[in-house]
Amino acid sequence: MKVRVLGSCAGGGLPQWNCGGANSVRARAGDPAVPAQTQPSLAVSADGERWSLLNASPDIRDQLAHFSALHPREGTRDVPLDTVVLTSAELDHTIGLLVLREALSYRVLSTPWVRQHMLDHNAAWRLLERAWGTTGLDADTKLDRDGILEARFFPVAPKVPGYLKHVAKPHAETTVGVRITDHRSGARLAFVPGLKTLDSATLAELAAADCRFVDGTFFTEDELRELRPGAVSATAMGHAPITGPDGTLATLAELSGRTLYIHMNNTNPILDTSSAETARVTRTGVEIARDGMEFEL
Ligand code: MLT
Ligand code: MN
Repeated sequence: MKVRVLGSCAGGGLPQWNCGGANSVRARAGDPAVPAQTQPSLAVSADGERWSLLNASPDIRDQLAHFSALHPREGTRDVPLDTVVLTSAELDHTIGLLVLREALSYRVLSTPWVRQHMLDHNAAWRLLERAWGTTGLDADTKLDRDGILEARFFPVAPKVPGYLKHVAKPHAETTVGVRITDHRSGARLAFVPGLKTLDSATLAELAAADCRFVDGTFFTEDELRELRPGAVSATAMGHAPITGPDGTLATLAELSGRTLYIHMNNTNPILDTSSAETARVTRTGVEIARDGMEFEL
């Protein structure tokens, strides 16, 4: 299985347009230690020819422009894109679908909860209705025509996106991780960009994968509060911090195979490649996803 990191940051990216924080200022100035990063998405492929996306970020237009494997065949509108898998209805995971609205030669796949709430509460998403399939939890769904890659959603602690919070209640299908399996090679990838708590079922799912991309939004529980008194904690925002008593790093560092943090918020010191926090993470063997990273499982 081939994997490409299309975007590694959380919603807003780096620099975030309205942010004057240190990471954004340095990224905007072109500081090589803090390279600009786009919003979160992965591309996966069984053969390097046909691809599926895990989430569709607001930056998808540029992400595809910089990835020749997903360019249309010359003289045609044939784009080798099979399926766009959604792990939630969060805007930073889904807005890219509206960018890809000119042709629906691909399929969208989400849980029934995500499809229903997006279609019911924003008419613009209905442009995609006929291409949008669903699969429930813990069921395998083929991503490509040959059925080599399969996706399986597994539940994590639910977080209702801010724009739906007055109309929706949390449900087991609201926020999921996705397991991608390559049936030819047996390779297994897990992708969990939103993770409020690392419970035992989620940990077992991550441990069984050869490679996992995990929510790295915040380095500490109080990261936002330290910058802006009164701001919510990491966990209250739906993101387990990397460090501290409920930090994910110590547990993830024990897993075999590759572990990469993804969906970093612009406040996170691991976006500074020269920081002590980056060194602390990478010393454990856990990696930090960066835009354009590519590897094979
Ligand atoms: C999140 O990851 O928690 C959301 O994307 C935050 C948001 O933009 O509402
Ligand atoms: Mn997000």
